[in-house]
Amino acid sequence: MEIKIAPSILTADFVRLADEIKKIEKGGADWLHVDVMDGVFVPNLTFGAPVVKKLRGVTDLFFDCHLMVESPEKYVDDFKDAGADQVVVHVEATKHLHRCIEYIKSKGMKAGIALNPATPLSAAEEMLPYVDIILLMTVNPGFGGQSFIESVLPKITRLRKMLYDAGLDTDIEVDGGINEKTGKMVRKAGANVLVAGSYVYGVKDAKKAIKILRA
Ligand code: DX5
Ligand code: ZN
Repeated sequence: MEIKIAPSILTADFVRLADEIKKIEKGGADWLHVDVMDGVFVPNLTFGAPVVKKLRGVTDLFFDCHLMVESPEKYVDDFKDAGADQVVVHVEATKHLHRCIEYIKSKGMKAGIALNPATPLSAAEEMLPYVDIILLMTVNPGFGGQSFIESVLPKITRLRKMLYDAGLDTDIEVDGGINEKTGKMVRKAGANVLVAGSYVYGVKDAKKAIKILRA
Protein backbone atom coordinates (compact mmCIF):
# COMPACT_ATOMS: atom_id res chain seq x y z
CA MET A 1 0.00 0.00 0.00
CA GLU A 2 1.03 3.57 -0.58
CA ILE A 3 2.80 5.05 2.42
CA LYS A 4 1.75 8.56 3.42
CA ILE A 5 3.56 10.74 5.91
CA ALA A 6 1.39 13.25 7.74
CA PRO A 7 3.32 15.64 10.00
CA SER A 8 1.22 17.08 12.81
CA ILE A 9 1.43 20.83 13.38
CA LEU A 10 0.68 20.33 17.07
CA THR A 11 4.39 20.52 17.92
CA ALA A 12 5.20 23.21 15.34
CA ASP A 13 6.08 26.77 16.34
CA PHE A 14 2.60 28.37 16.41
CA VAL A 15 4.00 31.88 15.99
CA ARG A 16 5.40 30.88 12.59
CA LEU A 17 2.79 28.37 11.48
CA ALA A 18 2.86 29.32 7.80
CA ASP A 19 6.66 28.82 7.62
CA GLU A 20 6.40 25.61 9.58
CA ILE A 21 3.92 24.25 7.05
CA LYS A 22 6.06 25.34 4.09
CA LYS A 23 8.95 23.51 5.70
CA ILE A 24 7.24 20.13 5.72
CA GLU A 25 5.69 20.74 2.31
CA LYS A 26 9.18 21.24 0.89
CA GLY A 27 10.35 18.32 2.99
CA GLY A 28 8.09 15.92 1.09
CA ALA A 29 5.11 15.50 3.41
CA ASP A 30 2.02 13.98 1.82
CA TRP A 31 -0.57 15.37 4.20
CA LEU A 32 -0.79 17.97 6.93
CA HIS A 33 -2.27 16.48 10.09
CA VAL A 34 -4.36 19.07 11.92
CA ASP A 35 -5.12 18.33 15.58
CA VAL A 36 -8.30 19.98 16.81
CA MET A 37 -8.99 19.67 20.56
CA ASP A 38 -11.92 21.00 22.55
CA GLY A 39 -10.79 20.56 26.16
CA VAL A 40 -13.78 18.24 26.74
CA PHE A 41 -13.11 15.12 24.72
CA VAL A 42 -9.42 15.52 25.55
CA PRO A 43 -7.78 17.47 28.40
CA ASN A 44 -6.26 20.11 26.10
CA LEU A 45 -7.28 22.90 23.75
CA THR A 46 -5.81 23.78 20.38
CA PHE A 47 -7.66 25.69 17.65
CA GLY A 48 -10.69 25.38 15.41
CA ALA A 49 -11.88 25.93 11.85
CA PRO A 50 -11.01 29.68 11.61
CA VAL A 51 -7.30 28.90 12.00
CA VAL A 52 -7.54 26.05 9.49
CA LYS A 53 -9.20 28.42 7.02
CA LYS A 54 -6.26 30.84 7.30
CA LEU A 55 -3.77 28.00 6.85
CA ARG A 56 -5.60 26.91 3.70
CA GLY A 57 -4.33 30.10 2.11
CA VAL A 58 -0.66 29.18 2.51
CA THR A 59 -0.48 25.59 1.24
CA ASP A 60 -1.97 23.08 -1.17
CA LEU A 61 -1.21 20.15 1.14
CA PHE A 62 -4.04 17.71 1.85
CA PHE A 63 -5.60 18.73 5.19
CA ASP A 64 -6.19 15.71 7.39
CA CYS A 65 -8.30 17.13 10.23
CA HIS A 66 -8.33 15.01 13.38
CA LEU A 67 -11.23 16.19 15.51
CA MET A 68 -10.67 15.37 19.17
CA VAL A 69 -13.95 17.01 20.12
CA GLU A 70 -17.30 15.97 21.55
CA SER A 71 -20.18 15.87 19.04
CA PRO A 72 -17.96 16.45 15.98
CA GLU A 73 -21.04 16.56 13.71
CA LYS A 74 -21.58 20.14 14.91
CA TYR A 75 -18.38 21.30 13.19
CA VAL A 76 -18.45 19.47 9.85
CA ASP A 77 -19.81 22.47 7.92
CA ASP A 78 -17.20 24.76 9.47
CA PHE A 79 -14.36 22.47 8.43
CA LYS A 80 -15.75 22.13 4.93
CA ASP A 81 -15.86 25.89 4.72
CA ALA A 82 -12.30 26.07 6.05
CA GLY A 83 -11.03 23.87 3.22
CA ALA A 84 -10.51 20.54 4.99
CA ASP A 85 -9.89 17.59 2.67
CA GLN A 86 -10.55 14.90 5.25
CA VAL A 87 -12.32 14.87 8.60
CA VAL A 88 -11.60 12.13 11.12
CA VAL A 89 -13.92 11.80 14.12
CA HIS A 90 -13.60 9.66 17.23
CA VAL A 91 -16.01 6.74 17.63
CA GLU A 92 -16.11 7.63 21.34
CA ALA A 93 -17.28 11.20 20.65
CA THR A 94 -20.56 10.87 18.78
CA LYS A 95 -23.79 8.97 19.33
CA HIS A 96 -24.62 8.72 15.62
CA LEU A 97 -21.38 7.74 13.96
CA HIS A 98 -22.88 6.50 10.69
CA ARG A 99 -24.88 9.71 10.25
CA CYS A 100 -21.81 11.82 10.99
CA ILE A 101 -19.62 9.93 8.47
CA GLU A 102 -22.26 10.09 5.77
CA TYR A 103 -22.65 13.81 6.39
CA ILE A 104 -18.90 14.42 6.03
CA LYS A 105 -18.90 12.51 2.73
CA SER A 106 -21.99 14.34 1.50
CA LYS A 107 -19.96 17.54 1.80
CA GLY A 108 -17.36 16.14 -0.61
CA MET A 109 -14.70 15.42 2.00
CA LYS A 110 -13.01 12.14 2.87
CA ALA A 111 -14.23 10.67 6.15
CA GLY A 112 -12.52 8.64 8.81
CA ILE A 113 -12.97 7.23 12.28
CA ALA A 114 -10.45 7.24 15.11
CA LEU A 115 -10.18 4.81 18.02
CA ASN A 116 -8.48 5.50 21.33
CA PRO A 117 -5.98 2.86 22.50
CA ALA A 118 -8.54 1.29 24.88
CA THR A 119 -11.39 1.20 22.36
CA PRO A 120 -11.87 -2.27 20.84
CA LEU A 121 -11.93 -2.75 17.06
CA SER A 122 -15.51 -3.97 17.36
CA ALA A 123 -16.47 -0.29 17.75
CA ALA A 124 -15.35 0.26 14.15
CA GLU A 125 -16.48 -3.03 12.60
CA GLU A 126 -19.88 -1.95 11.27
CA MET A 127 -18.38 1.22 9.79
CA LEU A 128 -15.60 -0.39 7.73
CA PRO A 129 -17.49 -0.21 4.40
CA TYR A 130 -18.29 3.48 4.90
CA VAL A 131 -14.96 5.07 5.78
CA ASP A 132 -11.94 6.19 3.78
CA ILE A 133 -9.53 5.79 6.66
CA ILE A 134 -9.29 4.34 10.16
CA LEU A 135 -7.03 6.06 12.66
CA LEU A 136 -5.69 3.93 15.49
CA MET A 137 -4.34 6.11 18.29
CA THR A 138 -0.98 4.89 19.54
CA VAL A 139 -1.11 7.31 22.50
CA ASN A 140 -4.02 8.67 24.50
CA PRO A 141 -5.06 11.76 22.55
CA GLY A 142 -4.47 15.22 23.96
CA PHE A 143 -0.76 15.97 23.77
CA GLY A 144 2.23 15.70 21.50
CA GLY A 145 5.44 14.07 22.63
CA GLN A 146 3.99 11.06 24.47
CA SER A 147 5.39 7.52 24.34
CA PHE A 148 4.10 5.00 21.84
CA ILE A 149 1.80 2.35 23.34
CA GLU A 150 3.15 -0.93 22.00
CA SER A 151 0.05 -2.98 22.73
CA VAL A 152 -1.64 -1.24 19.79
CA LEU A 153 0.59 -3.20 17.36
CA PRO A 154 -1.48 -6.42 17.32
CA LYS A 155 -4.59 -4.24 17.00
CA ILE A 156 -3.20 -2.78 13.76
CA THR A 157 -2.53 -6.28 12.44
CA ARG A 158 -6.03 -7.44 13.38
CA LEU A 159 -7.59 -4.42 11.67
CA ARG A 160 -5.56 -5.02 8.50
CA LYS A 161 -6.82 -8.60 8.48
CA MET A 162 -10.44 -7.53 9.10
CA LEU A 163 -10.17 -5.15 6.14
CA TYR A 164 -8.54 -7.77 3.95
CA ASP A 165 -11.25 -10.30 4.80
CA ALA A 166 -13.87 -7.71 3.87
CA GLY A 167 -12.14 -7.07 0.54
CA LEU A 168 -11.14 -3.53 1.52
CA ASP A 169 -7.78 -1.78 1.19
CA THR A 170 -8.69 1.13 3.45
CA ASP A 171 -5.91 3.33 4.82
CA ILE A 172 -4.83 2.61 8.39
CA GLU A 173 -3.42 5.71 10.05
CA VAL A 174 -1.46 5.71 13.29
CA ASP A 175 -0.97 8.71 15.52
CA GLY A 176 1.20 9.25 18.58
CA GLY A 177 4.81 8.51 19.45
CA ILE A 178 5.80 7.72 15.86
CA ASN A 179 9.55 7.95 15.19
CA GLU A 180 12.21 6.06 13.28
CA LYS A 181 11.86 2.96 15.47
CA THR A 182 8.08 2.82 16.04
CA GLY A 183 7.46 3.87 12.41
CA LYS A 184 9.02 0.60 11.26
CA MET A 185 6.95 -1.35 13.79
CA VAL A 186 3.59 0.11 12.73
CA ARG A 187 4.32 -0.36 9.06
CA LYS A 188 5.22 -3.98 9.62
CA ALA A 189 1.95 -4.39 11.54
CA GLY A 190 -0.06 -3.03 8.59
CA ALA A 191 -0.40 0.75 8.96
CA ASN A 192 0.26 2.91 5.88
CA VAL A 193 -0.42 6.51 7.03
CA LEU A 194 2.02 7.75 9.66
CA VAL A 195 1.31 10.88 11.68
CA ALA A 196 4.37 12.37 13.36
CA GLY A 197 4.51 15.50 15.46
CA SER A 198 7.57 15.80 17.65
CA TYR A 199 9.67 13.47 15.49
CA VAL A 200 9.33 15.78 12.47
CA TYR A 201 9.07 19.15 14.20
CA GLY A 202 11.47 18.39 17.04
CA VAL A 203 14.48 17.86 14.79
CA LYS A 204 16.49 20.34 12.72
CA ASP A 205 16.04 18.52 9.44
CA ALA A 206 12.35 17.79 8.89
CA LYS A 207 13.02 16.59 5.36
CA LYS A 208 15.38 13.91 6.64
CA ALA A 209 12.86 12.81 9.29
CA ILE A 210 10.12 12.47 6.66
CA LYS A 211 12.49 10.53 4.41
CA ILE A 212 13.38 8.15 7.23
CA LEU A 213 9.72 7.50 8.03
CA ARG A 214 9.00 6.77 4.39
CA ALA A 215 12.05 4.52 3.83
C1 DX5 B 1 -2.21 13.55 19.97
C2 DX5 B 1 -2.38 14.07 18.56
C3 DX5 B 1 -1.22 13.73 17.71
C4 DX5 B 1 0.07 14.36 18.15
C5 DX5 B 1 1.18 13.43 17.82
O1 DX5 B 1 -3.35 13.79 20.69
O2 DX5 B 1 -3.53 13.52 17.97
O3 DX5 B 1 -1.48 14.00 16.35
O4 DX5 B 1 0.33 15.59 17.56
O5 DX5 B 1 2.36 13.95 18.33
P1 DX5 B 1 3.64 13.04 18.56
O6 DX5 B 1 4.07 12.55 17.22
O7 DX5 B 1 4.60 13.98 19.18
O8 DX5 B 1 3.24 11.92 19.46
ZN1 ZN C 1 -3.77 13.61 15.69
